[in-house]
Amino acid sequence: MKKMTLALLSGGVSSEREVSLNSGNQVFQALDKEKYEVLRYDPKYDLGRLVADARNIDVALIILHGSYGEDGTVQGLLELLNIPYQGSGVLGSAAAMNKIVSKKLYEKEGLLVPLYQVYHNSEVIDPKACCDTIGLPLVVKPAEGGSSIGMSIVWDEKDINVALTHAFSHDRTIVVEKYIKGIELTGAVIGNDNPKPFPLIEIIPGENYTFFDYTAKYTPGATQEICPARIDDNLSEKARQYAVKAHQTLCCKGYSRTDMILNPEGDIYVLETNTIPGMTPTSLFPQAAEAGGYSFSQLLDKLIELGIHEHRRGREHK
Ligand SMILES: Nc1ncnc2c1ncn2[C@@H]1O[C@H](COP(=O)(O)OP(=O)(O)O)[C@@H](O)[C@H]1O
Ligand SMILES: [Mg+2]
Repeated sequence: MKKMTLALLSGGVSSEREVSLNSGNQVFQALDKEKYEVLRYDPKYDLGRLVADARNIDVALIILHGSYGEDGTVQGLLELLNIPYQGSGVLGSAAAMNKIVSKKLYEKEGLLVPLYQVYHNSEVIDPKACCDTIGLPLVVKPAEGGSSIGMSIVWDEKDINVALTHAFSHDRTIVVEKYIKGIELTGAVIGNDNPKPFPLIEIIPGENYTFFDYTAKYTPGATQEICPARIDDNLSEKARQYAVKAHQTLCCKGYSRTDMILNPEGDIYVLETNTIPGMTPTSLFPQAAEAGGYSFSQLLDKLIELGIHEHRRGREHK
């Protein structure tokens, strides 16, 4: 069988560049070299070369996180170049990247989201009113971000200004939302329009971390990740279906991973959906996929297959 020429994109220009480079290296190692001729591109430097090579590329694997990677822009470029790629298209990527747009769509679908308020950097914000509207503790985050960058938890009104300034240094628009105390869960799904949920993962950041922040995410051993999550079967099924609904309502394709929190009353709050989740063999999505019967290389094969299928379907209707 003739090998497919695969463009592996990693690096990029977002604040998650290092995470992407790491995932890209691990994906490169895991790809079956009998099946794929792998060409590597770092969009920070190599977009011109990618465009020049486009005719000879059969499929792309986008292992980029955050702005100019996970937000629909690279997906748009690949659409123009007629190159199939894994995961969500322009619309799903952009919708999921923006935490305000995604909250509005989740709410329409009947998914529960923490009470929230949106602020733009052009506004004068009254810190007391901000805390009173949402109630303490609260979480401040950039509208478009990832890896918990720019995010803070505020326990005391005196700390709100620092948190707002920090979030605004990463985005013009930010979200202030109610802090939900409970069990943190993440739901991975695979498939285009009717995705299948994998077993849920329960996330327990170590004692030194107040939440699943950047260091808790990327320091080996800092966080316990338990798959399947040790929660009641009915709640687990409900959370898995929430992940499926979140994927569908945001128009995601291929795969996605939705972060949620289960409170002691049994309510499941949806935080966000990741369209290009971390992709080292020990990252959350590959762990869930493994519990669902896919090795890391099989997972990559499946994502490529789903991407090619979605590309063909899209072209039939244009
Ligand atoms: N409303 C909330 N209540 C409690 N913890 C939260 C809340 N929002 C975010 N967090 C914590 O911050 C982490 C990152 O938030 P998330 O919305 O998933 O953004 P990111 O895109 O940075 O992963 C979550 O995994 C969780 O630990
Ligand atoms: Mg998250």
